[in-house]
Amino acid sequence: MTGPISLALDDGVATVTIDRPESLNALNSAALDALLDALDEAEEREARVLVLTGAGETAFAAGADIEEMADFSTPEAHAYASLGHDVTRAIETFPAPAIAAINGYALGGGLELALACDLRVASERAVLGQTETDLGIVPGWGGTQRLPRLVGDETARRLVYFGDRVDAQDAHELGLVGDVVANDELDGHVAALASDLAARPRFALAAAKEAITQSHETDLAAGLDFERRTWASLFGTHDQREGMAAFLEERDPAFE
Ligand code: COA
Repeated sequence: MTGPISLALDDGVATVTIDRPESLNALNSAALDALLDALDEAEEREARVLVLTGAGETAFAAGADIEEMADFSTPEAHAYASLGHDVTRAIETFPAPAIAAINGYALGGGLELALACDLRVASERAVLGQTETDLGIVPGWGGTQRLPRLVGDETARRLVYFGDRVDAQDAHELGLVGDVVANDELDGHVAALASDLAARPRFALAAAKEAITQSHETDLAAGLDFERRTWASLFGTHDQREGMAAFLEERDPAFE
């Protein structure tokens, strides 16, 4: 695949890279379409882990493309937001854990992509912010919904209202990222995390992801019901039989 998005699949780890150096990896419509295609292909090729990152050493993604959207009418803006929602939802519902490897600026829509991932790892140079109010708009690719779920209501309001750009360490303290690592250790750290996840039972991880996502979307009773059905559905699978047999036989499991 060539163009603004590339996909590499290695040992079950699909790495999707945003590559628009001319705009610090800002995402225009063509890049969003290509991102959707890459996610489809990664799913078809049965990726066990998804890693999302930005090319180069400066940016994960500097947001939605301001040049493209500057003159949008309301219907055009609505369609652009829908496309961004399609992409973030595709990441959130991807049937395997997704890791955002935040290697630089993750602003506006860039941060919203990272928020749709399961885990976020930032390098020391990363700068994160939900900066849309600086532009006279609000987050439009899920930030108003996913940010408070991740960091809590007050912190989300402050980040959105003030458009603060926070460094990696502050982002970690706010709960916006799970790990901060030295710039030259980001790739290795994410690769190790991805490889550990890829070795784990994939259907259990996919089920866990779906159930935890449900916890943000349903009331407690419906969520518990979903969990019970998910839990039961794993019985009889190869990995359940193998995981439990391996425990009882005091050996390492060989998952599918
Ligand atoms: N959309 C379109 N183009 C963008 C962009 C975006 N979100 N972010 C950066 N670019 C472009 C710049 O216009 C510039 O293009 P040019 O070289 O043709 O002038 C190029 O990327 C480099 O950006 P520049 O601002 O010169 O780099 P910098 O190092 O001085 O600053 C940032 C980097 C990220 C701090 C700054 O570009 C920025 O604030 N970008 C906007 C971030 C934002 O508001 N994102 C939310 C959008 S929803």
